[in-house]
Formats: sequence, structure tokens, C-alpha cells
Amino acid sequence: MENEGASKSLLNCLMTQESLRLRTVQSPIIPVVGELIRNHPGVISLGQGVVSYPPPREAFDQIAEFLANPELHKYQAVYGVPQLLELIEAKMRDENGIDVKSANQRRRVVVTAGGNMAFVNALLAVADAGDEIILQTPYYFNHEMAITMADCRAVLTPTDENYQLRPDLIAEAITEKTRAVVTISPNNPTGAVYSESSLREVNEICRARGVYHIHDEAYEYFTYGGAKHFSPGSIEGSGRHTISLYSLSKAYGFASWRIGWMVIPEHLFEAVNKIQDTILICPPVVSQFAAVGAMRVGAGYCRAQVESLASVREMVMSELAALGDCAVVPPAYGAFYFFLRLDTELKPLALVERLVKEHGVAAIPGDAFGMVNGSYLRVSYGALRPETVAEGVGRLARGIREILRA
Ligand SMILES: Cc1ncc(COP(=O)(O)O)c(C=O)c1O
Repeated sequence: MENEGASKSLLNCLMTQESLRLRTVQSPIIPVVGELIRNHPGVISLGQGVVSYPPPREAFDQIAEFLANPELHKYQAVYGVPQLLELIEAKMRDENGIDVKSANQRRRVVVTAGGNMAFVNALLAVADAGDEIILQTPYYFNHEMAITMADCRAVLTPTDENYQLRPDLIAEAITEKTRAVVTISPNNPTGAVYSESSLREVNEICRARGVYHIHDEAYEYFTYGGAKHFSPGSIEGSGRHTISLYSLSKAYGFASWRIGWMVIPEHLFEAVNKIQDTILICPPVVSQFAAVGAMRVGAGYCRAQVESLASVREMVMSELAALGDCAVVPPAYGAFYFFLRLDTELKPLALVERLVKEHGVAAIPGDAFGMVNGSYLRVSYGALRPETVAEGVGRLARGIREILRA
């Protein structure tokens, strides 16, 4: 009897564990570094990818409209409120060259609770368990985590020494199990902006091989030094196989409001609605109203912020130059990141711990982005006030030099 009790409780124990699938998903790195920062007051964070500015005032003004209509406290349309959809469709046409209503290749806009959710919607809509999704390394960790959670396999293709796309390697990596190729430009974590020609090449490979091209444009407004953002969804004939993802989080200082959207081929609309209806029912309506206010102000709001970020970026680059031969800093004309390649055998998390404890500065270890061979660090400057930049990056450069040369 005693044995029976013991085996029952062992059985219960085994039954109440997390799924095998989730056990293989990497743990998010941002909270780990966040905890380190909290435990060391005075640390300057070059960690999380956020901007320092709030949403435009017009976003808050729209909340009064929301409050004035009691009907809006009820569930609203799964794919977004009409006022916001209209603004998004006009923006897509005028800024991105994507005519959602084009008669020959009709597409749909679905408002989501942020760009991450848009990616998960896209993934669940196009892939079955065991399917392959091609990511570029370094990848955005939440993309890789979502793929593992969906029981799919992330197939990794390296970018070149400047973190630019390698369309030849992408073409080679496609198998009969491949469902999508994912690209991000401007890129997190590298800050690389992909050229129009390389994005056209990848989009054409996807069309010819019958796989989707999922392109994340969360940082579309964040370009510097004349770099141009390009939307592959604007390519003639791309409408059936291109999924474009957007976010208000960075552009409008909207991270906690959780609003983004996806532009999808019409034939995926029903599938995406099933997913979103199950997970979210509808994107938070109060946030959608705030988004209406922000998008009425439009891209000019973000572009003004990007102008001041451009001088922050210059400062970061000149401080990083002091790293000399300790690190390679590939060019980064977009987003608000640099992705450093360090000349050391030290594991990146160990290096970050020492930077925090001994030098009062934090960055994100590169292995979280899939760079497991070699030592890499992501440096984010989006949230830095110009006053803090020189100090923060100065500490980083001094810290890396001291640690690597010891
Ligand atoms: C490439 C990329 N896509 C999506 C997101 C997440 O955006 P959201 O806050 O809209 O979910 C991020 C956030 O860092 C990102 O870097």
C-alpha cells in the first residue's frame, strides 16, 4: 500500500510538470539582466530595447472619446476598430506602398496586441508542428521562442560580417518542410538595415519556392545616415506570400499600450481571426483609441525623436571606437542597437555580470540572439538621454578593455 501511495505521488508529480515543449524554450534574457541591474543601484542600462519618450498628447486625448461611449466597454471586432483600421490602411498605402485593397491581390489588416503577437498569429496561421521556419542569425529571441513553443523548428541562416542578409544561404536552407522565411529590418539586435535589393531577392525566393516571407518592420522609422527603409510587401506580386508586421511600441513610445498590426494575404484572414479570437478576443479597445490619436499625429512625431537619437548614436559610435582591437563594431544604420563582436573566450553572460558589478553598466549577452559561437553583446541606446550616453558607453568601453586585457 505504501508503495502504491509513493508511486501515485510520483505519478502526480510527473503529471504536474510544464510541457516538454516549453522546457526547450529559452528563458527571456531581459528580466535576468533587469534583476542584475536592480541589485546594483547606479548601473546605466544599455539593455532593454525601449525608447525614452512617451506617446504624443493626442493619444491621451482620444481616451476621452473612448470613455464617452459606454458601448465600447463591450467586446469589439476581433481584427480592430474601424477608425484605427482606416488610418493604418491609409498609412500602408502612403508610406509603405502597400495597397491593402488592391483588386488583384487583396490583403487584410489585423490589429494585434503588439508586434510579438502579430508574429505568433502569423506563425500559428501558416505552420504545423514539425514545420521549419528560417530565421537569420543573430535572431530576435522572441521569434525563436515562439517557433519552439509552436512545436516548429527554427532553421538558422547566418548573416554576413556586417549582419546583412545572405539570400544564397536562405535559398539553400529551404526544404519541403519550410513554411516561412523571417526577416527584420531595421534589425533587432544588430541595427542593420537591409537593402531593397536583398529584400527583393529574398521575397522572390519565397515566391518561387512557395513559402511565406514574414517581414518585421517594428523599427521602420529608425534609420540614420541616409539609410532607406523598404517594405517587401510593396513588391508587385508579393501579396499572396508576404506577411508584414508593425508595432507602435517604438515609434510612438507605446510599449505598454500593446498595439501593433499585421498585413496578411486575404486567404489567411480567417485563420488569423480564429487565433486572435481565442487568445485575445479583441485588441484592448482603449489602447486602440489611443493609437488612433497617435497615428493621426503620424510619422512626424517619431521622425523628430529619431533626429535627436541620431546624435545619441554618433556619441555611442565615437565612444565605442575606444574599444580598439578588443571588439569589432559592424556598421548599424537603423533601430537603436549596435551588436559588438568581442575578442574574448569569456561567456557573454559572465562578461555582462562583471560589467554590471565592476563597471556599473549593463548590456545584453549575444547568445540570447542565437550567437553561441564567440562572444557578442547587444548595446541599446534608444532609452538613453544624451547626458547619460557618454557616461554609459564610456563605462562600457573602459570595462570591456579592462576585463579583456586583464
Ligand atoms: C523586431 C521586433 N519585433 C517586435 C518587437 C515587439 O514589439 P511589440 O512591443 O509591439 O510586441 C520588438 C521589441 O523589441 C522587436 O525588436
